[in-house]
Amino acid sequence: MLEIRSARKVFYKGQADEKVALDGLSLKLATGEFGVVIGSNGAGKSSMLNAISGALVLDSGQIIINGDDVTDMPVHKRAVRLARVFQDPMKGTAASMTVAENMLLADLRSKKRTLRQGLNAARLATYKERLELLGLGLENRLDTRVELLSGGQRQSLSLIMAVGGSPDLLLLDEHTAALDPRTADIVMKATVRAVEALKLTTLMVTHNMQHAVDFGHSVIMLDAGKLRLEITGEEKAKVTVVDLIGHFSVKTDRMLLAS
Ligand SMILES: Nc1ncnc2c1ncn2[C@@H]1O[C@H](COP(=O)(O)OP(=O)(O)OP(=O)(O)O)[C@@H](O)[C@H]1O
Ligand SMILES: [Mg+2]
Repeated sequence: MLEIRSARKVFYKGQADEKVALDGLSLKLATGEFGVVIGSNGAGKSSMLNAISGALVLDSGQIIINGDDVTDMPVHKRAVRLARVFQDPMKGTAASMTVAENMLLADLRSKKRTLRQGLNAARLATYKERLELLGLGLENRLDTRVELLSGGQRQSLSLIMAVGGSPDLLLLDEHTAALDPRTADIVMKATVRAVEALKLTTLMVTHNMQHAVDFGHSVIMLDAGKLRLEITGEEKAKVTVVDLIGHFSVKTDRMLLAS
């Protein structure tokens, strides 16, 4: 379970270019929930994920993960509880190493496990099983160098590597935004397969409204550092792209009226 309580973060406080990134943001995400985060550029989406991961230190407010207040916990301590995938498919993996070697590296980072045995048969079998979850055939390419994979395969590998340590929370910040539409759909489907199979509590930021409609249990809309809207349950099941875009245009209308 994730709880954000009255999170506030102001950049360049008191200066002419002061920016309120998070303005008393409160949010709850139940264990196993897959929340899709939407909102205009600058709404505070990445700031929220950074505050959860500890990369951003809040001015005030609290971050609670599975009942523990992690607000003052340093990034490296939180990292073992969190998995994160970023926009750039080149960043999450090492190009000149094989799929299996990359997964071994991820294991090293996320666990206290000893690597004395290296890529032994048991480990390779585990990696195969995890890659099968993605449905992309990567389980048959354990010895392929990552630079030979497509952007979509590579980003999906980043995802499965990130969640290998059974994290409390998976954070996805526009992880399909740098991919062409077809590849983005492939990575989204792989994401959902992995999230469902591993029952991961997930927060995914996206500007793709079709993805927000098609995937996840809830839609969370941020606006000016606050929670503007939360769509859950039956309402989420029925929501359309037009409905979601409508919530953006209400804001635009308000801005036009104000100007
Ligand atoms: N490191 C930083 N230094 C200064 N201002 C920042 C910093 N990070 C974010 N901001 C500001 O905080 C606000 C929220 O930014 P944030 O990156 O969280 O938005 P976002 O919703 O992720 O937008 P996008 O959809 O463009 O990714 C913006 O006004 C942004 O300019
Ligand atoms: Mg962002």
